[in-house]
Amino acid sequence: MDVALVYNVKKEENDSTASVLQPSSQTQQTTHTQIQVTSSADAFAEWDTIETIHAVRDALSLRHSVTLIEADENAFASLKSSKPDIVFNIAEGRFGASREAQIPAMLEMLNIPYTGSDPLTLGICLDKSRAKEILSYYNIANPKFAVISSLSELRLLDFPVPAMVKPLFEGSSKGIFDKSLVHSVKELTEQVTKVIEEYGQPALVEEFLPGREFTVAMLGNGNDLKVLPIVEIKFDSLPSGVNPIYSYEAKWIWDQSSNPLEIFECPAQVDHNLKTAIEDLCRNTYNALRCRDWSRIDVRLDKNGRPNIIEINPLPGILPKIEDNSCFPKAARMAGMNYNEMLNAVLDAGMKRHNL
Ligand SMILES: Nc1ncnc2c1ncn2[C@@H]1O[C@H](COP(=O)(O)OP(=O)(O)O)[C@@H](O)[C@H]1O
Ligand SMILES: [Mg+2]
Repeated sequence: MDVALVYNVKKEENDSTASVLQPSSQTQQTTHTQIQVTSSADAFAEWDTIETIHAVRDALSLRHSVTLIEADENAFASLKSSKPDIVFNIAEGRFGASREAQIPAMLEMLNIPYTGSDPLTLGICLDKSRAKEILSYYNIANPKFAVISSLSELRLLDFPVPAMVKPLFEGSSKGIFDKSLVHSVKELTEQVTKVIEEYGQPALVEEFLPGREFTVAMLGNGNDLKVLPIVEIKFDSLPSGVNPIYSYEAKWIWDQSSNPLEIFECPAQVDHNLKTAIEDLCRNTYNALRCRDWSRIDVRLDKNGRPNIIEINPLPGILPKIEDNSCFPKAARMAGMNYNEMLNAVLDAGMKRHNL
């Protein structure tokens, strides 16, 4: 099979564009607890490193002939001329709230099969409020929320602080810092202002769910859909005094492959009832949003211990090295699949769906 791997790559520090693209140049790290991060620090946090792209290429090359196509403005022409049998899509896209949908939309136009969710699902899941509206229609639990485009709309909030303030359409913890959990109206106003001004998009303000947090890797479709072993995010591993949220700092700064945080536990220690409740919630969510082939779903317990959906990641992070602490590969390993087997299982799910 001719497989094209379509991706966006994080530029290296010695690249001429590095001053704009390199997150670490904007981030001054001092100690684990004393840290300053500017919002632009996370500008390209969603994109993959060349190391990840090569690891995916190598995995798929075990069984197929693989070419690499960068998801830039030349991608359409490259896809049109190379006409692969199937695309393995990990492109996070470049601009706008529909950026993750752009490559799949091109592929539909060219009638080229691809792995993962379609443009509609990718667009909806990136706009967290649109995803929540659909979940609510299906009575799938998710925290109360409001979309705030200007400070005057804050009076529409019908739930009290503590609350989470997030950019409406970002991923990979972009715009979610330790301070995004607000405990007062003053902090709420500050964080909403910051999201609107620095990210140029509305703020999603959500009721804060104080319970345990999990992330759940989903693989396959229909009757073959598998819920992989649940990963718990253990907030007690974070530096003392910080908020119990999986923030940009927790994901990219306090957790380094040279000094990893013991933040994930897989399989999560959950009793039978909670395990079933989380798995049912994630299956219902995956199906309601029409996810395809794979996704990773974030779940947190509310004050009554009931699992709620935080967000759906139809293009989950897949850092290759064990010490990189990436949740989808970790859950797959616990299910008995190594990195290469996991990626080929995603491709197989896509091929089966397309009768290839
Ligand atoms: N409503 C909420 N209640 C409690 N914690 C939340 C809530 N929303 C987000 N968080 C915390 O912030 C983290 C990042 O939020 P999430 O919406 O998953 O953004 P991202 O797309 O960056 O992963 C979550 O993993 C969780 O720890
Ligand atoms: Mg998340």
